[in-house]
Amino acid sequence: MAETFPVPTMPVPPVGVVGLGQLGGSLAAALMAAGRQVSGWDVDPAAREAAAARGVTITRELSGVVVLAVPLPAMATALDGLTADPDATVTDLGSVKGPVLQALGPALGTRYVGGHPMCGTERSGHAAVDPALFTGARWAVCVEPDTDLTRWLRVAEVALAAGAEVVPATAAEHDAAVAAISHVPHLLAAALARAAADAGPLALALAAGSFRDGTRVIGSDPAFVTAMVEGNAGPTAEALTRVRAHLDRPWAELVEGGHAVVTRQDGRRTVRVPLERAALLSLGRSGGAVTRRLAAFLECWVPGNG
Ligand SMILES: NC(=O)c1ccc[n+]([C@@H]2O[C@H](COP(=O)([O-])OP(=O)(O)OC[C@H]3O[C@@H](n4cnc5c(N)ncnc54)[C@H](O)[C@@H]3O)[C@@H](O)[C@H]2O)c1
Repeated sequence: MAETFPVPTMPVPPVGVVGLGQLGGSLAAALMAAGRQVSGWDVDPAAREAAAARGVTITRELSGVVVLAVPLPAMATALDGLTADPDATVTDLGSVKGPVLQALGPALGTRYVGGHPMCGTERSGHAAVDPALFTGARWAVCVEPDTDLTRWLRVAEVALAAGAEVVPATAAEHDAAVAAISHVPHLLAAALARAAADAGPLALALAAGSFRDGTRVIGSDPAFVTAMVEGNAGPTAEALTRVRAHLDRPWAELVEGGHAVVTRQDGRRTVRVPLERAALLSLGRSGGAVTRRLAAFLECWVPGNG
């Protein structure tokens, strides 16, 4: 990470958000609070009205960085009926990256840079908008072999402006990682809930903190969860196989190993990384993130002390 490639200076582009529900509406609100110019569109008039009331310019004409914040099944057609500037950079917030890259990549080429903020709640729709949703969250921004790094930086700067930290990863790396930390937990939460119900009303009556924590995410809209796990079926099945193998270990060993992972205290070491593909991917693979753009570098952190 020692090479020094200059980070290009660019005017701050406007942001157009398609889909003004929980994620898109929250992003629009966070960006406006950060002084960015934001416009947007939603098929639902109520979502448009709510966003307009927060100051978002409602329009079908989008430019700068266009953010697709629609449900996964609507990603491929989200730009239909809208006018996007031919030079606009297009990103999305979808929870799975490989299928969206396959759907949008052929038409958009290097104008498309995938993204996924690791935040959100089990609520949905414009009533769930929270301008602080992205504060301190990790936000994956995809780096592929043909990624235009100037466009990557434009997307990364949207994430940073919303208060997030940027984690570079390929779509395939992202999908394998989120299978383990998000998609499997949704399935496990569903299985726990069903198994507790099978145990009978007494069990559900006694359910308290550990049951609530273990099942919280399955309160999400089932259509959202199904689109997510089915859209990432291969990596999710592989991650489930690893979970099954752990469940077959002696329980004391399993508990000890899991406890060690969640109580480990990794420090943070600040590093500077050039805007270069290998350096960005190396940062993401090490568990680090971009926190700030400096004149000639990206300021980042990696796990470690010192
Ligand atoms: N909810 C989460 O926890 C979470 C977290 C990270 C990423 N995501 C991703 O973010 C995206 C949005 O999720 P959300 O939770 O904000 O959903 P949401 O249901 O709250 O909002 C989606 C919005 O998109 C609108 N919409 C649907 N089709 C449209 C179209 N063709 N054109 C314009 N608007 C359209 C809907 O009317 C709705 O307002 C999804 O792709 C999801 O995978 C969700």
